[in-house]
Amino acid sequence: ASDADFVVVANRLPLHLDTTDLDAPRWRRSPGGLVSALEPILRTRRGAWAGWAGTVTGGAHPALPDQDTRMHPVPLTEDEYRDYYEGFSNATLWPLFHDAVVPPDFDQSWWHSYLGVNQRFAQHAAALAGPGATVWVQDYQLMLVPAMLRALRPDVRIGFFLHIPFPPPELFLQLPWRSQIVDGLLGADLIGFQLPGGAENFLQLVRRLRRGEDVSRAPHASVLGRVLLRDREVRVGAFPISVDAAGLEDLARSEPVRERTRQIRRQLGERRRIMLGVDRLDYTKGIDQRLRAFEGLLAAGRATAQDTVLVQIATPSRERIGHYRRQRARIEARVGQINGAFGQVGQVPVHYLHTTVDRSELAALYGAADVMLVTPLRDGMNLVAKEFVAARPDLGGSLVLSEFAGAAQELTRALLVNPHHPVEFQDVMAAALGQDETEGRRRMRDLRHHVRERDVHHWAHSFLAVLHGGSGSVPSGP
Ligand code: G6P
Repeated sequence: ASDADFVVVANRLPLHLDTTDLDAPRWRRSPGGLVSALEPILRTRRGAWAGWAGTVTGGAHPALPDQDTRMHPVPLTEDEYRDYYEGFSNATLWPLFHDAVVPPDFDQSWWHSYLGVNQRFAQHAAALAGPGATVWVQDYQLMLVPAMLRALRPDVRIGFFLHIPFPPPELFLQLPWRSQIVDGLLGADLIGFQLPGGAENFLQLVRRLRRGEDVSRAPHASVLGRVLLRDREVRVGAFPISVDAAGLEDLARSEPVRERTRQIRRQLGERRRIMLGVDRLDYTKGIDQRLRAFEGLLAAGRATAQDTVLVQIATPSRERIGHYRRQRARIEARVGQINGAFGQVGQVPVHYLHTTVDRSELAALYGAADVMLVTPLRDGMNLVAKEFVAARPDLGGSLVLSEFAGAAQELTRALLVNPHHPVEFQDVMAAALGQDETEGRRRMRDLRHHVRERDVHHWAHSFLAVLHGGSGSVPSGP
């Protein structure tokens, strides 16, 4: 179809090709907030989604399931996977944009691969979009697409949203290809960031690089500023992403999930307090700091294996990249150390699972947790924090949230923590474990109020309303 009037361009499709059986690869859905927000829009607006199917198959994919004909796989070669995805996207941009928690690598051949793949995505989008269509480009893997697409299709309206933090200029300016990236983004009509701080960082950078003729601040509602180019203007704003709160709540209330929650509690020990961490295994997530804080509590006798258990789900991610491999080794050594020092036969303090869990199991784990630990060193938003809140209609459980997660700017009624501060981290963990039930329920009620109002549908609609000319002052609520 080359007549779509709404096109999503993202590195990943909301489907992936499962190649466990090499002879019979199968399509599987990858559920997530972004898909649940965009699917209804794709349905009602003759939509299309261009993205990578998650495997390097040399381009030959089996036919898509009937209901997924709006999906358009963009192939990547083995070299592109290494240079564009693992290299430039995840060993240059990812660490640089996350405050260089690990040092970013700058490599000219990765940059060339990034250029090439961005051009391919732009071509796919150009081929899919009908006259005057809206194209919404997602995230750091595709920052050159807006300008490339505009060159191919000046008639389309282009939005760009960055899901990760946008760093302060002094970090961004290290990037040897900084001007090209800024020009790539300025191809959009609207550039969205998670937080006002990210949008401010971008506007400052544009001023430093003198990219626009003028940058005026228009600090009202979501739109924080405009960049005036010779022939058009680019709006810059903040649109904090969220989760499909109603969907998660329904799942949490379903009988199979509730039964599984009770089973998990029985298996872990009815009388133990359950702490939960759910993260991609990424060095930005602060998993090691979290384990160390728990170790500190055990060592000080403020928690024991008899009364407390930490369940840490670490989803495999970007596994061939050195910093990810080393992070995994560090975490697994720490888990072994803690269980070795503080465990007993039949009772270990840390349950560590290096695996993906499906949505129902996740909802059941959220339901079983007394304390949810979301403690990244830096995070654009962090949807686990919002998912946990959405999955607790019983008002139980407390949320410990890093002040360096974007979500902390909205979820101010969580127990906020600086994960770099070992003493404070232990104190906040202990406070969460000992939190008075009435106080906990009060906090959860406030958190839930926010997450239900500002769900992912609200996010998508506010962004698109501004892209289509609105002021950005969209009333909240569905
Ligand atoms: C972050 C990024 C997404 C990315 C996801 C999973 O949330 O913002 O763009 O898709 O991580 O990472 P992966 O590299 O597996 O796509």
